[in-house]
Amino acid sequence: MNKSRGHFISFEGGEGAGKSTQSDLLCRRLESLGLKTLTTREPGGSPGAEDIRQLLVSGAVDRWEPLSEALLHNAARHDHLKRTILPALENGTWVVSDRFADSTLAYQGYGQGVDRAKLEQLRALAVGDAMPDLTLILDIPVADGFERTERRPDVTSRYEQMESAMHERLRQGFLAIAAAEPGRCRIVDAAGAAESVHEAIWQSVLERFALESPNSG
Ligand SMILES: Nc1ncnc2c1ncn2[C@@H]1O[C@H](COP(=O)(O)OP(=O)(O)OP(=O)(O)O)[C@@H](O)[C@H]1O
Ligand SMILES: [Mg+2]
Repeated sequence: MNKSRGHFISFEGGEGAGKSTQSDLLCRRLESLGLKTLTTREPGGSPGAEDIRQLLVSGAVDRWEPLSEALLHNAARHDHLKRTILPALENGTWVVSDRFADSTLAYQGYGQGVDRAKLEQLRALAVGDAMPDLTLILDIPVADGFERTERRPDVTSRYEQMESAMHERLRQGFLAIAAAEPGRCRIVDAAGAAESVHEAIWQSVLERFALESPNSG
């Protein structure tokens, strides 16, 4: 018997927007409906892609040419997709990824100036038609996102050290991506408290997948 395929949701947005927090809250909410979930992340999400992650998030800010960086992200993404995401979807799991392909277009394209046509070719190779069913783009002013990450104990990544003008460009890039693909993407105002951002996300998920929430009446 064929099990029904799971659904694929990605979270996108700049530094400190709340992607990791909201991925976890969404998975717990889906699990409360008895659904099987997998939270994963990029760069990373499979053993090989986690190794590539180390090359991307650590070291000198200028250690990569932007196109090399886009290639590394896509190499990691292809492995993540083939080894983690697609097998989970086939087995009926809801996959929630903290970042996916839009991050490369936003960071390496809008942020670092890699030619869009090249990025689209790479995406076609690495992802093909396996784009998420729903992408939640968490939007917050750059400075507010940084204020959140500064309160967090973990080490500062290469991306957090990049100039603020780059972060402004990538915020606008995410908004442009959402405008270009309104069927897949929803912009979520991420400036409020985590619980209220989660409720807005949950409404989008219920609507997109025609789910019924047990406490929605
Ligand atoms: N809505 C919120 N209001 C206030 N603080 C928040 C909110 N959401 C998350 N935080 C806190 O802000 C910090 C950044 O959140 P989180 O790690 O979820 O963001 P992120 O988008 O995953 O960041 P990064 O891009 O660095 O991975 C964390 O310390 C988190 O606990
Ligand atoms: Mg995070």
